[in-house]
Amino acid sequence: MLVKSQHYRTIWSKQPLANGLGTVSIIDQTKLPHAFEIKRIENLQAMIVAIKTMQVRGAPLIGAAAAYGLALAMQEDASDQFLQAAADQLIQSRPTAVNLNWAVQRMLKLLAPLPELSRNQVAWAEAVKICDEDVLLNQAIGQHGLSLIEHASQRAVKIKGQAAVTHILTHCNAGWLATVDVGTALAPIYAAHDAGMNVHVWVDETRPRNQGASLTSWELAQHGVPHTVISDNAGGHLMQQGLVDLVIVGADRVTSTGDVCNKIGTYLKALAAFDNQVPFYAAVPSPTIDWNITNGLAHIEIEYRHADEVAYMQGLAADGSLQSVRVIPAESTAINPAFDVTPARLVTGIITENGIFTPAKLNLNQQY
Ligand code: MRU
Repeated sequence: MLVKSQHYRTIWSKQPLANGLGTVSIIDQTKLPHAFEIKRIENLQAMIVAIKTMQVRGAPLIGAAAAYGLALAMQEDASDQFLQAAADQLIQSRPTAVNLNWAVQRMLKLLAPLPELSRNQVAWAEAVKICDEDVLLNQAIGQHGLSLIEHASQRAVKIKGQAAVTHILTHCNAGWLATVDVGTALAPIYAAHDAGMNVHVWVDETRPRNQGASLTSWELAQHGVPHTVISDNAGGHLMQQGLVDLVIVGADRVTSTGDVCNKIGTYLKALAAFDNQVPFYAAVPSPTIDWNITNGLAHIEIEYRHADEVAYMQGLAADGSLQSVRVIPAESTAINPAFDVTPARLVTGIITENGIFTPAKLNLNQQY
């Protein structure tokens, strides 16, 4: 994606040269939309902090970041003991998105059998490969999802009797910023916009961290896609008014049976979509599917983040400074579950890099 006419990915590296150390660069997402800052990550601990504090976030991106975390670890100490300890720490840094575990296991499988001397170089090459693959998966999701938007647009013409704008609602940020590039839920929207279709996106603000209001709106604006930020509670009303043609969200973990775990509040959108016969799709690259589990409610660990993310809101003050303000009484407490599970029965389909599957047929995707 272009930011001020320059192409960026969300994460990239300077590989280690003969006698130098490799580094990783990220876009610090805690500063967006008010400042575009690039941060250099030079060791494993800094990468763990970046993942925990959500300087990098989004399931595919934290997978890529974890792979780079192991590359950074291998240039600190390539011993078996450090490799395993680094892998354990990375896996624990955020528990819900399966991409992180997937990337760490892939790196471990490759690195563990190697002699210590060759681990560093191989780890950097594999992390780059994981990033490049992520971009290709997301581009394929974009092409498959484009057909859904074309279909929704034809449906809207039939119902409303005119060539209308296609309104797509999305939750959280499952775009360019949540992946290495392109995005998952936003990939079909970018593809439709680039093909000249008239699309408009309803962007859920996505409390408590406001990934919709701060990040999705920012990247849609960078790409020139028409969009409107709405409060988290507005989606159901808009659906009742016939103003939503399609819902597309991302996912942090999808079971083999099609239960979709995604940012907190996704489930409520799925319920409203079901009640209003609005198609509800999740865009999911295969590293987000956990083939080992069948029941999302029973088997997926939901991350609970600090209650201060609910108690406080961050924003730009009139003097241009970033400020945090408390929005609940001093006497009140808060809790902060970061994800929820939408049962497969509420999911119309899953857009993968291999095509679109109903939840019941998702296991067909495993053959690829
Ligand atoms: O807590 P976050 O911001 O990492 O949560 C992100 C989401 O829930 C996304 O929808 C999901 O990771 C899919 S990203 C392609």
